[in-house]
Amino acid sequence: MSRSDEIFSELYDHLAIRTDRTFAWIFVFQWFMGITLALTLSPQTWAGSEGSLHPHLYQAIFLGAAIAVLPVYLIWKQPGATLNRYAVSVGQILFSILFIHLMDGRIEAHFHIFGSLAFLAFYRDWKVLLLATLLTATDHLVRGFYWPLSVYGVLNATPLRALEHAAWVVFEDAFLFYSIHIGREELHAIAEKQSSLEDSVSHVERQVEIRTQELQASQDTVLAQQQSLTSSAKLSALGEMAAGIAHEINNPLAIISTHSSQLKEMIEENESDRTLLLSMADKIEQTAQRIAKIIKGLRSFSRDAGNDSAQLVRVSQVVDDTLSFCREKLKSNGVQITVEVSEDLLLFGRSTEISQVLLNLLNNASDALQEKDEKWIKITATENESQTLIRITDSGPGISNKVKQKLFQPFFTTKALGKGTGLGLSISLGIIESHQGTLTIDDSSPHTCFLISLPKPLALVA
Ligand SMILES: Nc1ncnc2c1ncn2[C@@H]1O[C@H](COP(=O)(O)OP(=O)(O)OP(=O)(O)O)[C@@H](O)[C@H]1O
Ligand SMILES: [Mg+2]
Repeated sequence: MSRSDEIFSELYDHLAIRTDRTFAWIFVFQWFMGITLALTLSPQTWAGSEGSLHPHLYQAIFLGAAIAVLPVYLIWKQPGATLNRYAVSVGQILFSILFIHLMDGRIEAHFHIFGSLAFLAFYRDWKVLLLATLLTATDHLVRGFYWPLSVYGVLNATPLRALEHAAWVVFEDAFLFYSIHIGREELHAIAEKQSSLEDSVSHVERQVEIRTQELQASQDTVLAQQQSLTSSAKLSALGEMAAGIAHEINNPLAIISTHSSQLKEMIEENESDRTLLLSMADKIEQTAQRIAKIIKGLRSFSRDAGNDSAQLVRVSQVVDDTLSFCREKLKSNGVQITVEVSEDLLLFGRSTEISQVLLNLLNNASDALQEKDEKWIKITATENESQTLIRITDSGPGISNKVKQKLFQPFFTTKALGKGTGLGLSISLGIIESHQGTLTIDDSSPHTCFLISLPKPLALVA
């Protein structure tokens, strides 16, 4: 069964149920009408002066009920069933017969047949109409023959009367059959249209499903790429740090190595100047301490500092700690560093995290200056009433508006493939925001200037 046939039968069932229900009411109405007719037209019959209720009234009550009960019951039990419409067809014609009989074959009563046929055509089923027509014809023939008074209101009716009545019925049927045909064609057209609509909707749904799957697949790819970028970001940060540390430690190691071989030589030559020997040993000790400090810083730097509690720390201390990781690297890149931070300036935060941000900004500045003739970075810290402000300014000319818009987006980088991951600034922004601060570009500077503002420690706010 095609989809359009299915829809047709759904539509038809709907129509059959609706028509059934209408007829159920019509039957009840007709039953009352029959009784009313009997009451008004011939309530009493007279035999001399003895009056009794006319048999028409009994017929209206009992025959009417007998005719109505089966179709109404069927409709109530199984609305829309095929059997109903045939029962309705028979019942409706029986009502016509009853009315004609109750009205003693008055010609007006015959209009009920025409009305009934028209109503039955609502079923849009030619078989229903045919059954009603055959029943009418049979009734007219039989009653015309045996009880002409009941059907034509006269005592003698020629068979021609039945023929004449039949001709009128056939005349109406011709219209009704045609209208049934048109009605069914319309239903078919609606079913056809709805099925093609469903087809196109399901086509669109399929397309949407395919697109959704494609989208999901590409999202998965992006996610996988982001994950691999994030891990390569960690690796590259680690690599950068390792290179930086090698730089930072190389120098003091060279100092220790030179001084210790000098010391050895002096001891071998029996050098007796104890002050000179001591200062040599001091220098070695100090330098070793510097290496220890770098390594200590590195250890705290490399762990996840997110859970550390915020503390009051000197800004100069944080800057110093950060520079111990990159001072040598910056120097060997030819970048000159100036620090203008007063000793008494304090900030409230997780110093390791702030240090990570500063290192990021310093590395970015150093990378940006690589091709420049003039290379300097300036770190300044000031405060106003409510904020501690740290500025990292480099000799670059500032950042173009186009780059500025995407600067803090994760994975935005202008560096060559494999060089930068584009995560530095977005991570830094996250850290500063977790301190309730802001990380912005200071447009008032003629050079490239990143500004960190942190809320001043509460104890220091006036
Ligand atoms: N001081 C600066 N001068 C000029 N451009 C800068 C500066 N700092 C950042 N940028 C621009 O911002 C981009 C994003 O910086 P971010 O630190 O987020 O990532 P990255 O440095 O490219 O990569 P990563 O930090 O992983 O090495 C850089 O690629 C660079 O184009
Ligand atoms: Mg960076």
